[in-house]
Amino acid sequence: MCGIVGYIGHRDAYPVVVKGLKRLEYRGYDSAGVAVINEDKLKTYKKQGKVADLEEYVQGKQLESNIGMGHTRWATHGPPSDENAHPHASSNHKLAIIHNGIIENYDAIKKELTKKGHTFTSQTDTEVLIHFIEDIKLHENCSLEEAVRLALTQVVGAYAIVVMNEDEPNTLVAARKGSPLVIGVGKGEFFLASDATPIVEYTNEVVYLNDFEIAVIKDDKLSIRNTQDVPTNPYIQTLDMELEAIEKGGFEHFMLKEICEQPRSIADCMRGRLNAADGYLRLGGIREYAKKLENADRIIIIACGTSWHAGLVAEYMFEEFCRIPVEVEYASEFRYRNPVINEGDVVIAISQSGETADTLAAIELAKSKGAIIFGVCNVVGSSISRASHEGAYTHAGPEIGVASTKAFTAQLTVLSMMALRTAHNRGTISLSKYKELLVELENIPSKVEKALQLNDEIKVISEIFKDARNFLYLGRGFNFPVALEGALKLKEISYIHAEGYPAAEMKHGPIALIDEEMPVVVIATRDKSYEKIVSNIQEVRARKGRVIAVVTEGDDVIPEMAEFVIEVPAVNEVLMPLVSVVPLQLLSYHIAVMRGCNVDQPRNLAKSVTVE
Ligand code: AGP
Ligand code: GLU
Repeated sequence: MCGIVGYIGHRDAYPVVVKGLKRLEYRGYDSAGVAVINEDKLKTYKKQGKVADLEEYVQGKQLESNIGMGHTRWATHGPPSDENAHPHASSNHKLAIIHNGIIENYDAIKKELTKKGHTFTSQTDTEVLIHFIEDIKLHENCSLEEAVRLALTQVVGAYAIVVMNEDEPNTLVAARKGSPLVIGVGKGEFFLASDATPIVEYTNEVVYLNDFEIAVIKDDKLSIRNTQDVPTNPYIQTLDMELEAIEKGGFEHFMLKEICEQPRSIADCMRGRLNAADGYLRLGGIREYAKKLENADRIIIIACGTSWHAGLVAEYMFEEFCRIPVEVEYASEFRYRNPVINEGDVVIAISQSGETADTLAAIELAKSKGAIIFGVCNVVGSSISRASHEGAYTHAGPEIGVASTKAFTAQLTVLSMMALRTAHNRGTISLSKYKELLVELENIPSKVEKALQLNDEIKVISEIFKDARNFLYLGRGFNFPVALEGALKLKEISYIHAEGYPAAEMKHGPIALIDEEMPVVVIATRDKSYEKIVSNIQEVRARKGRVIAVVTEGDDVIPEMAEFVIEVPAVNEVLMPLVSVVPLQLLSYHIAVMRGCNVDQPRNLAKSVTVE
């Protein structure tokens, strides 16, 4: 969840580390800290709050150093505080660690160490790990790297760590299991980070560390071995990321930038894959196992949060076009449920970050039962993309705002392409329908562009409803997952309680909530359940609920009954979620801004949920 950064080389480390922390701050932001070796002393500075608070705190301090590391935390063990912030130091204050993840057996280790006289200043699992490494180092009289290795053979849990030793100022040791870690390889310098964003402005050569690998950067050299002490060859890859993609580029918030980028990110997602005029549709990452998908008896989709909503839309698509039964599972439930997975089942795992711990664990479980995994990820080189047999990247570019927007529409784009391709090859879709939908898909960016022009209108509606305490979102069919997504967006960033429901389910409970104060957002675009949802709107109106309806351009029925209407361009109902979600993203964005909320870094959340 947190962000970690390390640097060793010819530059002054602190500015590199702090800039890196700012780039990673979206991953966790309850406290921050740095460690450097200055005047032969290991110095750590840490502070509750944002990276900016840390910067203020270290002003005037001696920090020059060619080695350094930093951390921005998302607390798991112990509340956000100066003491619990990372880096954590060992007893003799010679070793320091930064850590992303959870050491599950920290309590047992802590008890042993306490018996040996160790005392702890924080409530974190991380501090226990650095004391443990120190204890092994002193006992075995070994190097830092060996002490780290021996400690990790006894640790249960997930980690990405970086460790420094005052007595080895030319060495950084890093390791991972379950949490991401990327190494940037420069000329005579190395960078370590949770993802590539802090690295991209210095080098595009990177090594993705694998689980159970330990990287040692010493005297200008990188070597990697695993926890069994077997050396491996670092595989250097070239990053394909532009610096401007991770900057705000004139927008007030990353979220707004990412909402507005959608016409381009959706087009990028289709680039080279789809050409409607020629009836061309290919996903280069799905080849060897394409037949498995086409012949699947059942598709199981696993994901969390917004990605899970994309999975729900995909369920409708695959069932509609491919006539394959689909189950959409919360990864966190699936992994602990002893699910039935048969030969002939295939799994599609959806994840923006590609690092979500529950999704990753669910994949491992399904794999252990023999399932073929297709990954739909945004972050290239991420753990889920590497754990999948095959898959397709969403190519939406880095998504920094914690609330997922452009990643969602890119996921829908990839999933529609997967469903259409599979249906075509299975022969379960007519050629004319197939071609019609390819054209529709190709036109989505321009329709999203049109939907974005609703911004000013939505701002006015936001002003009216910004003080509401509850919201209800209703949709049917393909728009039901959009209702869920609209509600999630609103609660995440504006802290207003919101529920998404299938419109017809309202009668079975939520209707009791409706009174003259309840805003009800109804996604009621023209589709086969249009008449039904019109009746649902009437039911809300009859109880004095305040209806904000998202309708298809030219609708002349719903404007008669809804208090506000938002008109989106007409699209085939299957692809409508790509367009109908846009006004809901904007609505939540403006309401959150008007309420003074931190849109890009909402409280308690983190972008990439690497703990379960
Ligand atoms: C989306 O707005 C949320 N922040 C969250 O639900 C997110 O979609 C979820 O954590 C899954 O993340 P992933 O796509 O990176 O796996
Ligand atoms: N478990 C550690 C802590 O609570 C690390 C959490 C994180 O990944 O930020 O401090």
